[in-house]
Amino acid sequence: MSIMESKVVFIGAGNMAEAIVSGMVAAEFCAAEKIVLTDIRPERLADLEAEYGVNTSTDNNVVKDAEIIVLSVKPQVLDEVLKGIAPVFRKETLVISIAAGIPTAKIEKALGEGTRAIRVMPNTPALIGQGASALAAGALADEADMEVAETILGCVGLTVRVEEKQIDAVTALSGSGPAYVFYLLEAMLSAADEMGLEKETARTLTLQTVEGAARLMKDSGEDASELRAKVTSKGGTTEAAIQSMDESGVKEAIVKALKAAQARSEELSQG
Ligand SMILES: NC(=O)c1ccc[n+]([C@@H]2O[C@H](COP(=O)([O-])OP(=O)(O)OC[C@H]3O[C@@H](n4cnc5c(N)ncnc54)[C@H](OP(=O)(O)O)[C@@H]3O)[C@@H](O)[C@H]2O)c1
Repeated sequence: MSIMESKVVFIGAGNMAEAIVSGMVAAEFCAAEKIVLTDIRPERLADLEAEYGVNTSTDNNVVKDAEIIVLSVKPQVLDEVLKGIAPVFRKETLVISIAAGIPTAKIEKALGEGTRAIRVMPNTPALIGQGASALAAGALADEADMEVAETILGCVGLTVRVEEKQIDAVTALSGSGPAYVFYLLEAMLSAADEMGLEKETARTLTLQTVEGAARLMKDSGEDASELRAKVTSKGGTTEAAIQSMDESGVKEAIVKALKAAQARSEELSQG
């Protein structure tokens, strides 16, 4: 069966599921009515049905004739969800999980022998089609399965493949990453305020600076350190700022922070 004709069931119709579904509908991944969202909140489902023309259900057993299932509930409820669908699950169905911290082995065990599972770590810019998702194949997911998952997540941004053992590092880097950028933005905007700039002016300049710097690095292909050296002239203003950050140990603090996130991700995965 072609991917276009697949029935895709999302279990858990939250923010992430909506982002991916909206990307799939816009990219015409498949006919909207082939997408089914399930949730425990009927009013949420009614909204999504009206907005995207998808089908919905409050019964997770709709997975019984699905070609693809996307597990998009919070990790805390995944056990219960898997237990609920296991009796009707068919091993021909591909399972894609975006639940943070849940290993594919756990999904394979819960759904039974022969389950093909793929674990994905997306991030919130997916909400505007600018996500970065890392995909890791479980024991039985093959190349064709990975391509299906890449096509789905590709509807909301770029995708990369990693080994599952790298998912905790990815979680620390790009999963939690948008929050680090917002943290930097908060600090830059506080400084702008203290220096007497108007709020709107500061917001415009700061956002364009962060976006422009990321684009410059992407388009030029140069390393961050090379680009930084280029804007840091001897005795200049940038040098004063970088020197101050070095004295405060900002780089070391960021490395430490990401390692803390990785350690926490490992801890959560081990339940
Ligand atoms: N947001 C991110 O940046 C991000 C990044 C990476 C991974 N993820 C992962 O993506 C997943 C979804 O995140 P989210 O932010 O979209 O969560 P969310 O908005 O809470 O969505 C989960 C939805 O599932 C519903 N639900 C709860 N129990 C259910 C059940 N038994 N059957 C069906 N639906 C059920 C929830 O309803 P109630 O609200 O009524 O409980 C909610 O509508 C999570 O596992 C998270 O780890 C998120």
